Order: sequence, then structure tokens, then C-alpha cells
Amino acid sequence: MTKDEVLLANKEFLFPCVFHYFHEPLVISHAKDQYVWDADGNQYRDFFSGIVTVSVGHCNDTVNAKVHEQLDKLQHVSTVFANEPQAALARKIASITPGRKLTKSFFTNSGTEANETAILAARCHTGNSEIVALRHAYHGRSALALSLTAQSAWRAGLPLPGIVHAHNAYCYRCPFGLTYPNCDVRCAQDMDELIRTTTTGRIAGFIAEPIQGVGGFITPPKEYFSIVEKIVRNYGGIFISDEVQTGWGRTGGKWFGIEQWDVTPDIITSAKGLGNGTPIGLTVARPEVADSVKGLSISTFGGNPVTTTQAKAVIDFIEEQNLMTNCTETGACLRSGLEALQEKHQVIGDVRGMGLLQAIELVEDRETKAPATAAALRLMESARENRLLVGKGGIYGNVIRLSPPMNISRGDVDCFIGILDKSLAALSR
Ligand SMILES: Cc1ncc(COP(=O)(O)O)c(C=O)c1O
Repeated sequence: MTKDEVLLANKEFLFPCVFHYFHEPLVISHAKDQYVWDADGNQYRDFFSGIVTVSVGHCNDTVNAKVHEQLDKLQHVSTVFANEPQAALARKIASITPGRKLTKSFFTNSGTEANETAILAARCHTGNSEIVALRHAYHGRSALALSLTAQSAWRAGLPLPGIVHAHNAYCYRCPFGLTYPNCDVRCAQDMDELIRTTTTGRIAGFIAEPIQGVGGFITPPKEYFSIVEKIVRNYGGIFISDEVQTGWGRTGGKWFGIEQWDVTPDIITSAKGLGNGTPIGLTVARPEVADSVKGLSISTFGGNPVTTTQAKAVIDFIEEQNLMTNCTETGACLRSGLEALQEKHQVIGDVRGMGLLQAIELVEDRETKAPATAAALRLMESARENRLLVGKGGIYGNVIRLSPPMNISRGDVDCFIGILDKSLAALSR
């Protein structure tokens, strides 16, 4: 198909909710490492990695060699038969969870399903049903997951009952109008009042992204999750960390984002970066929690030998190449480059994130913090013209999200900062 035929077919044969970035959507033809090429042969630097998914580079040779071998050996059996790749992946994951305390896995196809499984387990384990999630969260697109989500644009359909949303730690736009650290982390303390006033007082659990992804890489202060954890446990709930975007070392130095806050969750969910592009969902739990799910359950493609081979190869690659350290070091370069751009370009109101998960929030005016939504759109277009792909997010659509493959170099970051600088300068022309 030509580029125009692809776009026409998309328009005619896909649900219109399948939206694309850019005024004229980009048709991607192929990709390698940190680069993608469009249908006209133009090469782009990919600083969004799909959506925080291509953790170890597009079409990674080491990973794909293992996948090719597995593809010709055993492609599918379903979970009613055992297979080695699933067992090997589950064993590997058990060895790297915080404190090695989460040791039992359930594999599915997506982050949405991973979160469905986590909520089921929390309810079975506690005997309670209500869930606390966070404002600005994104947890997926099933009826339950979109009800956990707290951005109106992503909640199409009637949300399910039994879920309440607590204040997030959005320090740049504090929900209480306070300033950290004088605020005494009021957003976290408010959890107690929320549970006492909007639930039955007995909750099944709390689910949160350590850094809110779609929300615009909102990064809580260091005390936030330990305060919240204590309150949640007081009311019978367990702690679910949604690591769909923050897992596998991206935040730097640790396998999982929540470890940066020194909290050990009862359940971790993940997807995206675990597979480097293959569809996989993971729910890993403390054994007592996993063992509470007594009924039968099946996911036809969960634990598929090809996808679990790919996921295990991704984890091994991250370990062998020391990419968690690379995320810390290269992430620090990225962060200082962004802070330098903030000094130069008034439109950058906030720089935040951890490791190779960084964002800039654009504002019309640094005093009023009016969201610069139109500027974010223009920046995306001008970056594209400069052959750079970045992501967008935030409830106002004014946050530029950066999550390059975790095996990029400092040279890549320097080059990226130069292109972003040029793209930002184009906004004022
Ligand atoms: C934090 C988080 N949780 C869950 C999901 C849902 O994952 P999926 O799209 O694989 O269903 C996403 C997707 O963006 C996500 O960012």
C-alpha cells in the first residue's frame, strides 16, 4: 500500500477512536534501535519508544534471535499445558521483585488485563471490594480499568461503582495550593479522610502508577507513597503498583519504580517495556495474595511461549548490559539538558521525572501556569520536521513526554537536546 492508501484504509476501516499524532499522520515503515523510518524513507530519532514500550531498542538483535528460534520450536499451547519459557520468565521475575517477596505471576496480553487481574486478586484476598485509585491516573481501557483511570477523556462509557479517586502528588499544580516541603505532604495525608468519607471504611486496595504516565510523568515527593501505604493498610487494603511505564529499570538503578519510594507493594502489574513490543501483561503478587484467587481462570495467550521468551530475553538484556545504571547516568544527562532548556525557553514551566522517564510541562505564562496546549501540538510538529519523535500527555495535553530506549548513549542525549532546542526555538517564530 502507498502511504495515502494506508491512511485512507485507517479512516475507512478502523474505529475513529484509534487516533494518530500529527496534523498529517506519520506512517511508519520500519525501525532499528532508536530510529524509525517513515514510508517516504525519512529517518527519525524515537524518544518515546512507541509509548514507553521499546525498552531495549527497536528490533533488538539479541532479543529477536531468541524469539526467531522459539517461533520455529513452539508457538502456542495455552495455559492448560505447561511450557518452559513461561516457567523461566516467572522464575526470573520472582528473583527481581522488591525484596523477592512477589513470587507468583499471572501472564496476560496487556496492561489493562494485568490490572484487571490485580483488582480481582485484591478483592479475593481481602474480601473487600472498594478500590482507591489516584486522580490523573491511567490504568487501561476495559470497563474496570477505565473506571480506575481518572482523566475524563479516557473514561468513555459509564464508569463502574466501587472506585474512589484520591488526590495525586502533582506538586507543580498542587491540589491544595501548597508548596512542598512546607505542605507536610497534605495530598498523602488526605487519604485517611477520603477513605473514611467516601468508602465503607474497608477497602480491597490502592492502585497507583509510581510516576503517572499518561498523566504527564507526575512524580510524587519521596514521602508520598509510604504515608499513603500506611493509611491504606489501616483500612484493610493492599498496595498495587502499576509499573506498566515505570518498570524494568527505566527510573534508574532499580527494577521497579515503586522501589524509589522504599515501598514494597503486594502486587506489581506491568506490560509495555517488558515485551519490547510484543503483547504481554504481567501481574506478580505475594504468594498469599496470588493463592487467594481460587476460581478457575484462563488467558488463551497468557504465558505464550514466544512472548515469554521475548520478555525473558528483554530482562536478561537489561541485566547483561547494565541498563538500569545507564538509565541513572544517561537520565541525569537528559535531565540537566532539559533544565538548561528551561532556563532558555520560557514556555517550559516544569521539568520532572526519573531516569530515562522525563517530561517538560509547557505553560503560556510561568506565573499563571496556564497550560500551553496549542504550543505542545506545535512543538510535536516542529520536532517531527526536525526528525524527532516525542510523546504528549497530561490532562491538559501540554506535557511533552520523553522515554527513549534504555540503551541509548550520552551522545544520543546531546543530539536530542540540540534538536529539541531548535524545535522549541521554532515556536516563537
Ligand atoms: C500505567 C498504565 N497502566 C495500564 C495501561 C494499559 O496498558 P495496555 O494499553 O497494554 O492495556 C497503560 C497504557 O498506556 C499504562 O500506561
